Amino acid sequence: MAADPWFQDLFAERIGGANYGKGTEIYKFEKIKRAKRKVLAEHPERPLLDFGIGENDDMADPRIREALAREANKLENRGYADNGIMAYREAAAEFMERQFGVRLDPMTEICHCIGSKPAYALLPACFINPGDVTLMTVPGYPVAGTWTRYFGGEVYRLPLYEKNGFYPELDSIPGDILRRAKLLVLNYPNSPTGAVASREFYQRVIDFAHRHRIVVIQDAAHILLTYKGEPLSFLQVDGAKEVGVEVHSMSKGFDMIGWRLGFVAGHPRIVQAYADVKDNTDSGQFMAIQHAAALALRTPDIPQRIRAKYRRRLEKLVAALQQVGFRCQMPGGTYFLYTPAPIAAGERRFATAEEAAHFLIQEQSICTVPWDDAGAYLRFSVTYFAPDETAEDALMAETVRRLSTLRLQFA
Ligand SMILES: Cc1ncc(COP(=O)(O)O)c(C=O)c1O
Repeated sequence: MAADPWFQDLFAERIGGANYGKGTEIYKFEKIKRAKRKVLAEHPERPLLDFGIGENDDMADPRIREALAREANKLENRGYADNGIMAYREAAAEFMERQFGVRLDPMTEICHCIGSKPAYALLPACFINPGDVTLMTVPGYPVAGTWTRYFGGEVYRLPLYEKNGFYPELDSIPGDILRRAKLLVLNYPNSPTGAVASREFYQRVIDFAHRHRIVVIQDAAHILLTYKGEPLSFLQVDGAKEVGVEVHSMSKGFDMIGWRLGFVAGHPRIVQAYADVKDNTDSGQFMAIQHAAALALRTPDIPQRIRAKYRRRLEKLVAALQQVGFRCQMPGGTYFLYTPAPIAAGERRFATAEEAAHFLIQEQSICTVPWDDAGAYLRFSVTYFAPDETAEDALMAETVRRLSTLRLQFA
C-alpha cells in the first residue's frame, strides 16, 4: 500500500479522520458491480438481465430537449441562477395546484434544488446541532442521515415492515429519542418498498410532528409514478405545511434524471432556511435547464406516458415472478418491485437477501439489489433497456426461463 500523504491526519472525523481511505469494507452496490463484471467475463454468452439499475432508461421527452437547446442559446441564460428563476418557481407552483390542488406562493414557499439529493444535505444543515436526532425510515435513501451525522447528530432508524404496510411505527420511538428528534424524513411512494402513503397516515404524521415538535421532510421523488390511486402530496393534507416541506424531483417522473433539478416546497420559514444555506453552497442550476423543466411541469402528458410505461412493465414483472414462486404484488408506486428474497435454491440456503442476490447473478446473470434492513428482500427495477413491448415480453420470458432452472424456495 502507498505511504500516507502528509495530510492524512488532517481528515475530519466525520469521514473517518486519520483512517480515511483505509477501510476495506465494500459497500453493497460496489459488490454488485464487481459480481456483474465477473459474471460477464465468465459467461459472455449469457446476456445480463439487469434489474439492478435505479435510473430511468429513457431520455427526456423531445419537446423538453428542444426547449433546452433553444434556451441554451439565449444570452440571458448564461449566468448564475442563484436561488432560481421565477419561471421555474411559477411552473412548480402551477404544477402543485393542477396536480394536487395545493396552492403555494412561488416566491416564498418554493425553492429549486440541483436535483433533490443535495436538498437532503442542506436541510439537516438548517436544523441539526450536535446531539440532535433525525428519524429516518429504513430501508431508504440515506443522504439526510449521512449529513445529520456529519453535523454531529444521530440517526434513529425506523424499520419499514410489510406487516405495517411499510409505514414506520411512530409510537415505538423511545422518549429520549423523541425529546432530541428534530427531523422526520419520510419517502412516499417509498423507495424501495413501493408503498404509497394514505391520507390517514399523513394525518397521523402531522399530529405526531405537532405533539413532539418535529419537522417533517417528505421525499416525493417518485410521486408521479403512483399506481394505487392518484398521486398524493403530503401538502394536500390539512396542516402539513405547518410542520414541514415536501421535496420534488424532475428525475423520475419526467425522465430528467441527469438534468439535476427539483424543488423544496412547504412552510415558508423552512424554505427560507433551506434557500439561505443553499445560497452559501451553490449558485443555482443552469437557467436553460430550469426553463426546459418549467415546460415539462406544464406538459402533463409526459409524466402520464412515463407512468403508463413503468406500470405496464411492473405488471409484466409481477406476473413473471409469480410464475416462479415469488410472493409479490403490484407496488403502489415507484419503478421498483420489492419482494421477499428466496430462502433457498435447491440444496443451497440463503441466510440473507445479499446471498440470494449474489447467487442469482452468479448462476443466471440476473441482477437485483438486496435489502436486509427490515427482512430479506430483493428489489427488481423495471428500468431495463427494451426498445418496445415485444422486447419487454422476450425479456420477461427469458427471466422466467432462467429462474425456473434454480428451484427457488420461499418462506
Ligand atoms: C427515494 C429517492 N429520493 C431522492 C432521490 C434523489 O433524486 P434526484 O437527486 O435525482 O432528484 C432518489 C434517487 O435515486 C431516490 O431514490
